[in-house]
Amino acid sequence: MDYHEDSARGAWGSKTAFIFAAAGSAIGLGNIWRYPMMVGLNGGAIFVFTNILAVIFIGFTVMLAEFAIGRHTRKNPVGAYNAIKPGTPWKLSGYLNVAVGIGILSFYGVIAGWAVGYFFKAITGAFKRDLSWQDSEAIFKNFTADPLVVFVCFSVIIVLTVFIISKGIKGGIEKWSKILMPALFILIIFLAIRALTLPGAGRGLAFYLKPDFSKFNGTVLFFAVAQAFFSLSVGNGAMMTYASYLSKKDNLVSSAGWVCFFDTLVAILAGIIIFPTLFTSPEIVPGEFIADTGLMFQVFPMVLSKMPGGYVFGVMFFTLLLVAVLTSTLSLLEVPTAFLVDEKKWTRRKAATFLGALAFIIGIPAALSNGGVKLFTKWGVMIKMDFIFISLGITIGALFISLFLAYAWGVKNALKEISFGNSRFKLKSLWIFNIKYLAPVVIVILLIIITNIF
Ligand code: TRP
Repeated sequence: MDYHEDSARGAWGSKTAFIFAAAGSAIGLGNIWRYPMMVGLNGGAIFVFTNILAVIFIGFTVMLAEFAIGRHTRKNPVGAYNAIKPGTPWKLSGYLNVAVGIGILSFYGVIAGWAVGYFFKAITGAFKRDLSWQDSEAIFKNFTADPLVVFVCFSVIIVLTVFIISKGIKGGIEKWSKILMPALFILIIFLAIRALTLPGAGRGLAFYLKPDFSKFNGTVLFFAVAQAFFSLSVGNGAMMTYASYLSKKDNLVSSAGWVCFFDTLVAILAGIIIFPTLFTSPEIVPGEFIADTGLMFQVFPMVLSKMPGGYVFGVMFFTLLLVAVLTSTLSLLEVPTAFLVDEKKWTRRKAATFLGALAFIIGIPAALSNGGVKLFTKWGVMIKMDFIFISLGITIGALFISLFLAYAWGVKNALKEISFGNSRFKLKSLWIFNIKYLAPVVIVILLIIITNIF
């Protein structure tokens, strides 16, 4: 099958285009904003190591499952479940994916909006030299408590996402990812070097990379696994939908491997920037410090303000961050859009506009939860939505994907699909074990633990 044969639905322009688009979906606020926050909340280095293991053994496993189902069926999640097991309740799992996608987009869009605001702050030189933690905290608090500004920034993200999705994947997603994602990667390496050379960087680095095994428990494992899924864009049919535009020539195994590798590398580098910089502030004590949604927005301006050419690097960083964020919001909107286009025969434009508006409305409480409306602040709307849509929605979605592949579609059929474009799948037996037993059993145990705690 040629890349362009299936052109009625749209297809990727080349082999690397898919890897870039999938990596573009994976790399986003999950790596740069949520990952450091989760590290801060879950005992530092112990979370880092648990998360790496979760990526290798569970995240990769489910990602490959999504790739195989998506390319085989060439459909959105609802259509995919329905194509393999027609007329069964499995398609409910597809509906879960569609709903969770909109839910995540709603509050993810708010935080993406903060990134828009910070982009303008960087341009107007709002981060003065040698910013202290208190200054940075004040900037963040003032900014996020202003409902008007937050709403405008949130709308910018939704409108841009809807606009690009309306144009279809080829014109939209590919072009963005190819040049700008590598640029972001290089810039992040620069910032990491600066953070590591700050006086007193060692304290933060120890918190980040020297594990305290006594801090390990079920909660840490749960959040490490959920973060792996979220960061890899797995568990929600996004990778399924992206893979539905693939050709049989592509190697699913190595594509999944590359995406997992780059995504995890970017997250680890983000932590190398955040923790050494954070703990150079004398008032911040590792072990006592409680990370929150402001962590990334408070620490990046600090490190930028402490480097030569900080203004230019700041503008570049927030520009590229926005690109990374947009390539992620696109994939969140793509799942429900593909559903309405494939199953309900809507036009792309109508589907994307309707869904964007819906995400915007659902996101309103989150947008007002950082001081805009006191009650929402008290409820911790943002953190609750994060828990419901990411920790539960994505994790349950990933569970269904593994069960579906292993016990409804069958490992044999999946392996046949994987064998196109990859004749020798070296880790085959490990993957089979992981998808049939490890992933489902671990997820079920963790869901039981976590629902007992909360
Ligand atoms: N992985 C993205 C990030 O790290 C977020 C994301 C985009 C996502 N699409 C997704 C998460 C689909 C789960 C499912 O920022």
